Amino acid sequence: MIASPSTFQFDVDQIRSRFPALTITDNGAARVYLDNPGGTQMPQPALDRIHYYLTHQYANSGGVFRTSLETDQMLHDSRRAMADFLNAPSEDEIIFGPNMTSLTFTLSNVLKYWIHPNDEIIVTRLDHDANISPWLHLAEDVGARIRWIDFNPPDCRLNIDELEAILTDKTRLIAIGLASNSVGTINPVHKIASLARAYDVLIYVDAVQYAPHAPIDVQTLGVDFLTCSPYKFFGPHQGVLWGRYDLLDRLPAYKVRPAQEQPPHKFETGTQSHEGRAGTLGALEYLAWVGTQFGDKFRNQFPDFQERTLKLHAGMAAIQSYEQTLSKHLINGLKNIPGTTIWGITDTHRLDERVPTVTFTMNGHNPRVIAERMAKQNIFIWDGHYYAVETAERLGLDRSGGMVRVGMAHYNTIQELDRLLECLHRLQTKE
Ligand SMILES: Cc1ncc(COP(=O)(O)O)c(C=O)c1O
Repeated sequence: MIASPSTFQFDVDQIRSRFPALTITDNGAARVYLDNPGGTQMPQPALDRIHYYLTHQYANSGGVFRTSLETDQMLHDSRRAMADFLNAPSEDEIIFGPNMTSLTFTLSNVLKYWIHPNDEIIVTRLDHDANISPWLHLAEDVGARIRWIDFNPPDCRLNIDELEAILTDKTRLIAIGLASNSVGTINPVHKIASLARAYDVLIYVDAVQYAPHAPIDVQTLGVDFLTCSPYKFFGPHQGVLWGRYDLLDRLPAYKVRPAQEQPPHKFETGTQSHEGRAGTLGALEYLAWVGTQFGDKFRNQFPDFQERTLKLHAGMAAIQSYEQTLSKHLINGLKNIPGTTIWGITDTHRLDERVPTVTFTMNGHNPRVIAERMAKQNIFIWDGHYYAVETAERLGLDRSGGMVRVGMAHYNTIQELDRLLECLHRLQTKE
């Protein structure tokens, strides 16, 4: 899947020059943004789109005058770009909303018509709670049963054998993450979809933590719904839900009467964040630019795609390849710090099974204290469970402050990682 790094040049300085936030210093210290799983920084094209929309086109949708017509065009363009990003067959399969969590609750609510008493819903202990709680509520509301898939510590891979054991004629829905926000594992969703094909099961995929790191093709994944959040892939605070058109068409929507009856509009209640949509369009234009600049070596992986879809996917493949060099450097560096346990895949030959989100604990140091010490050096990292409460509990870390999470993006550098590793090393050896 991944082209050999020796044949591939990724100019991270050129990438960084497009992100104004990366040039900011505080008291002379550059900021090191390693909080990316919580939200990424925005490139200039996304900021420009928002600014232009707010200054030149700001209006409500559906009018006959210039600003409203331009608003409708922009809303259409952002939906089309999002469809290209996911290789969705139609932009009418793309629903925008405030965030992934709200969209998932919207869908879990309407799936009450699909799931009946004694049906079963499968969830995993590796997921963010936004892909668990909506299904727990749904199960409680309709009298369905929740079945769990566990994972294997410490490498934190899902136990797929368990899925095979619990998948039955009663199963109606599998809710699964494409990548863990906590330990970075990429789940074999395509394989799960193949296993589930023999049953009358819907598959709902949380791709929030996968979307910033690799190309997504909803047509080859073989699933029914997929969600992601543009603010995790260089856009503003927004959520996106893709669903198969025939399903979206059949499902009821809680909507006001004058709103359109067809998907996606029937699920987009009220006035959208138009400036958010403009920013998402700008973020996707930026990612297509990444494809133009650095994606040449990857284009042949996507032979049948139309030009912008091709650019977006080649760009994401280039990002994935570069980020694997970052993961390798960080994992090897952490392995050299005494008393450090990395939770998740640490075999650097298996980097295509993880995203560059690396989580660890250090003997004798509470995760919050480590994050605070790094914050003093202007290095931004997270501590805690990050709403992956089941994962933290399963690892036995929920009562001890969780874990430290270093989440990289394609604008991070080896030098930034070295700065982090040096600070961690000093902390542990008390130099
Ligand atoms: C894997 C995963 N799923 C879902 C969410 C929730 O996304 P949102 O903030 O868009 O509701 C997050 C947020 O961090 C996440 O990491």
